[in-house]
Parts: sequence; structure tokens; C-alpha cells
Amino acid sequence: TQHFIVIGNPIAHSKSPKIHTLFAEQTGIDIRYQRQYCPDDNASFTAVVEAFFHGGGVGANVTVPFKQVAYDCCLSRGGLSEHAKIAGAVNTLLLNKALLDKGAPIAEALYGDNTDGQGLINHMTSLGWPLTGARVALIGAGGAARGIVLPLIEAGIASLTIANRTLYKATELVNELSAASPMIAEQHIDACETAQLSGSFDMIINATSIGLSADTLPLSESLNCQYAYDMMYGRPLPFLQHFAARSAQTSDGYGMLIGQAALSFERWTGHTIDVAQATAILNKS
Ligand code: ATR
Repeated sequence: TQHFIVIGNPIAHSKSPKIHTLFAEQTGIDIRYQRQYCPDDNASFTAVVEAFFHGGGVGANVTVPFKQVAYDCCLSRGGLSEHAKIAGAVNTLLLNKALLDKGAPIAEALYGDNTDGQGLINHMTSLGWPLTGARVALIGAGGAARGIVLPLIEAGIASLTIANRTLYKATELVNELSAASPMIAEQHIDACETAQLSGSFDMIINATSIGLSADTLPLSESLNCQYAYDMMYGRPLPFLQHFAARSAQTSDGYGMLIGQAALSFERWTGHTIDVAQATAILNKS
């Protein structure tokens, strides 16, 4: 049996065990995937992770609020994938085999990847939403937004506007990411206040945490799009209702959750997931 965990706080409602257990059934491998609560401090997180891998664990997912802490852990140890580096966040932990083979201790071989952004891209692609040449507006400038900028640009979008309640955070994000990645630096990215976002886009993505609050975004009447995506899921989302009422196609982020999970599973086990089949089963259950 291969052991996996998802570490978070809170963690009781995580759907990851269910999703990964289904993947294991699909691929015919024997796994145990558990939720792992962790107190919200760095030392506890490191202790939990090290104990897990010392105990023979194969892979861990990391969720709120530990994605940045996981990034820091890997930065000083086994390393980070390019996507984790640019995102400044890690959602997938594993051990760096090359370092282990060279005799590095387990605690020093911790390697971090980030599959969130590619999970989003794969979900949009499966919906038939065209990304190549798309004019995209991204609302939000926190960790969730940061993680999808490089994957969107890699997918071949034509233009990107980042809108945020606090303008300077959007500007800062554009500057930081452009400094960190030549590919991002080559793409012209606009920054503006959310209330100032106007005109037509092919796609608008909500990467704010607003779906979980009672607030709504100050969306201009002149703002419209063909496709609206909210990275949140699990309840009716005002952002999606707003654009559905204006004839846009809409999607919440449940498919992104499945997409990032599939990429983590593939990374850990080398097995390929039939995401369409898994999604059909999960949507029914
Ligand atoms: P996450 O990791 O989920 O992205 P975060 O880093 O705290 O979380 O970022 C939250 C994002 O949601 C930010 O873009 C934040 O806007 P500010 O930078 O102006 O704070 C946005 N956000 C959160 N609550 C919001 C609200 N009530 N109205 C508008 N934007 C909100």
C-alpha cells in the first residue's frame, strides 16, 4: 500500500481522499490517502511532513494555509519545479529521488511542485474553452491568482489584464512575476482596479477569495465575456450568476480540483488518469 495525505487547516471537508481513491481504483493500484490536520504554524507543518515521509509516505498534497510554508520548506531542501517557483506556492510534495540516491537524508530531499495552474488549464481545455489567442482578465492578486499566470501564458493567451480591489497588489504581482520569468516578462500584462475593469474579454477568471464571503465584486456594467470561471466551488457563486445572466458560459472550480489532483497522482505514481471518466463518476456521487 502506498501512503498519501493532504495537509491543511481546516481539513475535515477536503474532497481529495475521495478523488485520489477513485484514481487508485481506475489505475488498479493500492493506496491509502488520508486527511492530515496540522496546527497553523511553520514548525508543526515541517514536523508533520518529515514524520510522514520518514514513515514511508510517497506523496502529500498541501492546501490552505500551508502552500507558501511548503514552498519555503522545499526552497531550502530538495528543490522546486518551475511552476512552484513562479507560483511561490507548493500543492504537491514528494521526495527528490536523485538526492536520495546520492545519500541525502529524507528531510533534505523534500521536493515541491504546483499542479493547480495546469489543473485549471486542463479543465478549461476539457470544457472546450479556447485559450490560444484568448483575451483574458484575471480578478485577484493573491496566491490563487499568482499560481495561474504562467500556465495561462504557456497556454498561448493573447493578452492578460490583472484586476484587484487593491491596485498596488496587482501592479506588484505583475512586476514580481515579470522579474521571475522571461516568458511572463515577454507578455504585456495590464493591471487595474476591479471596479475599473471594463469592455469585452474572451474569458474572465475569478481568483479572489470572495466566493467564500458575503461580499460581491464591483463589476462594471460594461464588462462582458464569453467564458467566466470561478476558482471556488461548492455553492452558487454570485460571480458566475452575474455572467450567466449575460449569456456567458460559466464554470466553477471543481474541475480544477480534480485536474490538479490528477496531475499530482500522475507525478507520484507514473499512472495516467482518465480525467473525463473520473469527473463523470465524481459528478454523480
Ligand atoms: P488566495 O491565496 O486565495 O489568493 P489571498 O492571497 O489572501 O488568498 O488573496 C485573496 C484575494 O482575494 C486578493 O486578491 C484580495 O484582494 P486584495 O488584494 O485587495 O485584498 C481578494 N479579496 C478578498 N476578499 C475580497 C473582497 N471582499 N472584495 C474584493 N476582493 C477580495
